[in-house]
Amino acid sequence: MLNEGQIKQYQDQGFLVLDEVFPLDELEQVKQQAAKIVNDWHDDDRSHTFGTKDNDRSGNDFFLDSAETMSCFFEEEAFDEKGEFVQDRALCINKIGHALHELDPVFKRFSHQKILGDIAKDIGLQEPQIRQSMYIYKQPNIGGEVNWHQDATFFFTTPQSVVTYWFAMEDATLENGCLWVEPEGHKGPLRERFNRCGSDTKMQPLSDKAWPIDTGVPVEVKAGSLVIFQGKLPHYSAPNRSNKSRQAYTLHVTDGRTEYAVENWLHANTLPLTGFDS
Ligand code: FE2
Repeated sequence: MLNEGQIKQYQDQGFLVLDEVFPLDELEQVKQQAAKIVNDWHDDDRSHTFGTKDNDRSGNDFFLDSAETMSCFFEEEAFDEKGEFVQDRALCINKIGHALHELDPVFKRFSHQKILGDIAKDIGLQEPQIRQSMYIYKQPNIGGEVNWHQDATFFFTTPQSVVTYWFAMEDATLENGCLWVEPEGHKGPLRERFNRCGSDTKMQPLSDKAWPIDTGVPVEVKAGSLVIFQGKLPHYSAPNRSNKSRQAYTLHVTDGRTEYAVENWLHANTLPLTGFDS
């Protein structure tokens, strides 16, 4: 699937962009399915928000249980001081997570397609296993910032293996909060680990290396593009203050030959752990 230059780009830079590889009609099906899940979701508990300003999820069973559900989280700015939605309810959802790839037929089909397995093999994942899926809305006006982090913080394996597949469901631009990455940042240390013990979570510092606030580069992509990045690559996205959403779908994939840490927050014990179609 990938040519030598693309594999080298991934290895050298820590990320790779495949421009407009998925047709818009296929994206539309997935987008509509996400909208249906949101429409069918009737839990409007104001505490079910998602943000990254504070990563302490201790006692947050709604989050912790979502390893095995398709739960809708609200944007942190979804509600006004009276607890009312600040804009249309459907435009207040931050994300759906974290087991769409197993629980929903449309997402299951999209997530397991062979081309993704071919890419995994090209970049060194011999036994790819899909650990998590998220449909991220980055809503107009209130789409929250996702602070600088490395995905290996949340999917710690020995040796490091997690790869993120980031599908642009819509054009991602500087205006609507595109992804930012630090080229070659995957060559640096993992800065922290997110550990869970029962209902408690804790961020364990590993390195005080500064985040690349001044050296990150934006990754503006068209709808249908796929960004693949290595688990130690620092990445970030700004708040969305534009009037357009920036929808994306992500998969986090680890290699079955590695040891997946028992301390990781996400263990989908009741679901099968699957790879891609052959
Ligand atoms: Fe991430």
